[in-house]
Amino acid sequence: MAQVIDGKKLAKEIQENVTKEVSRLKSEGKQPGLAVVLVGDNQASRTYVRNKQKRTEESGMKSVLIELDEDVSEEKLLQTVEELNEDDTIHGILVQLPLPKHISEEKVIDTISVLKDVDGFHPLNVGNLFVGKDSLVPCTPAGIIELIKSTGQTIAGKRAVVIGRSNIVGKPVAQLLLQENATVTIAHSRTENLAEVASEADILVVATGLAKFVKKEYVKEGAIVIDVGMDRDENNKLCGDVDYDDVFQKAGFITPVPGGVGPMTITMLLSNTLKAAKRLFDKQ
Ligand code: GUN
Repeated sequence: MAQVIDGKKLAKEIQENVTKEVSRLKSEGKQPGLAVVLVGDNQASRTYVRNKQKRTEESGMKSVLIELDEDVSEEKLLQTVEELNEDDTIHGILVQLPLPKHISEEKVIDTISVLKDVDGFHPLNVGNLFVGKDSLVPCTPAGIIELIKSTGQTIAGKRAVVIGRSNIVGKPVAQLLLQENATVTIAHSRTENLAEVASEADILVVATGLAKFVKKEYVKEGAIVIDVGMDRDENNKLCGDVDYDDVFQKAGFITPVPGGVGPMTITMLLSNTLKAAKRLFDKQ
C-alpha cells in the first residue's frame, strides 16, 4: 500500500521558509517583488493568477498585476515586459500563458530578462539547466523534485521514467532527475511498449494530460509515482493522469490529485522570485 505524499503540507513548509526570508530581507529595506501579466479574459488563467497573487502577498512580497486587453498589440506587451525588466522593485516577471493567437509566446518569453524569468522558460535558463549551471528552474518540475526528496528515498542510481515531453514539465523534470544522478528515460505518446517501459521505473513521473491513463500494469511494486495531471473523470470529478485507486496498492509512494503537485507549483514560484530577488539585490 502506498504512502501518500502530502503536497499541501510540503508546500506550506517551504512557503513558511520563504516568508521568513522575505521578512528578514524587508528588515534590511529590501522587498522582493513579483509582477504577473495577464492578457485577455481566460477564466482559468484568471483563477491561476488570482491564486498566485494571493500567495505572493501572504509571503510578504510585493505583488503587481498588469491586466491587458485581449486585443493588445504584441508591441505593447513587449514594451510592458521591457518596462518591468527595468523596474528595480520587480524581481520576478511572469506572463501568464496561453496568450492570444496574434501574439508570439516565443518573442514574449525571449524578451523577459533572464534574471527575472521566474517561470524558467527563457532559452538561456533552459540552456543553463541543461548544462547543469545555476538557473531559474520551471516551477512544476522544481516542485516535483522536492516531492520526491520528501519521501526520504535516494534518487541517485535509480531508474526514473517521465511520461510526457513538454517544455514546461517533461523535459525539465527529466533534466533535474538526471542532475540528481537518476538513470532517466523520457517516454511519450509514440513510445512502444509504454507500460513495460514505465514499469521499470523506481520513480515514475506522469504528465500525459490524459485522465487516469496510468494503470497498475505501468507501475513497479514500491515505485514513487508523481501525478502531474489535472483532469476530469467520467463524472466530471477532478482526477490525475494516474488511476489512483488502481495504482494505490502497488506503489510505494503516490501524490494525490488534488493536493500533490498542484500546491507545490506556486510555492516554487515564490521560491524562484526570492532567489531572483536575492541575486539582484547582491548586484545593486
Ligand atoms: N499557464 C499555465 N501554467 C503556466 C505557468 O507555469 N506559467 C505561465 N507563465 N503560464 C502558465
